[in-house]
Amino acid sequence: MIVAIDGPAGAGKSTVARGVAASLGVGYLDTGAMYRALTLVALRDGVPTDDGPALAALAREHPVSLENGPAGVRVLMRGDDVTMAIREADVTAAVSEVAAHPEVRTEMVARQRAIMEHGDWVCDGRDIGSVVFPQAEVKVFLTASVDERARRRHAELVARGERVDLRAIRDDVERRDHADSSRAASPLVVADGAVVVDTTGIGVDDVIGRIAAMAREPAA
Ligand code: DC
Repeated sequence: MIVAIDGPAGAGKSTVARGVAASLGVGYLDTGAMYRALTLVALRDGVPTDDGPALAALAREHPVSLENGPAGVRVLMRGDDVTMAIREADVTAAVSEVAAHPEVRTEMVARQRAIMEHGDWVCDGRDIGSVVFPQAEVKVFLTASVDERARRRHAELVARGERVDLRAIRDDVERRDHADSSRAASPLVVADGAVVVDTTGIGVDDVIGRIAAMAREPAA
């Protein structure tokens, strides 16, 4: 069974998807981490973020690997643990441009399908229910207001000891919403058959419980 969770930046997808996977006892695939890891190598190797074919070649050459462990998902690239590095501001600023290239998406979608071919998975991203796995048994579009998403992201960065301005984060959330929804290749959309879950003001455990219940009884 596949549970596809899509939605805009900061809707809480990864926390929710991880929780749903733990509750169901199945694997979790964070597709955003795959685009982030590619962005990180591109920045480190000086591959221009506007060169789709070169980025796709880089993705083929350096496949990212994701390991589910007790402390969450570890992201490994060329043998390095890049779990933290892929969340840094420079990667976050460049990833939308990298993810917009059709050549990059073709490469990533093929790898995501291959990973999820066997077994049960909870997968989060932007195009999982619409492109990667339109046949997913459960499809959720997770969202929240821009203010709420900016507040959550701000709290997360402050907890990591970063000094950040809430206003700048709100602007960045809006910019990424626009970039992800308006790109030509697989824009962020509510997939056919997806249930829209607005998490504004709802606790994360409630959201996890609701989606896990949908997965236990997909036809309900
Ligand atoms: O969910 P996230 O913030 O880690 O995603 C990082 C970027 O990757 C974001 O700009 C959208 C893009 N992305 C995508 O285009 N398709 C996916 N399936 C997952 C992420």
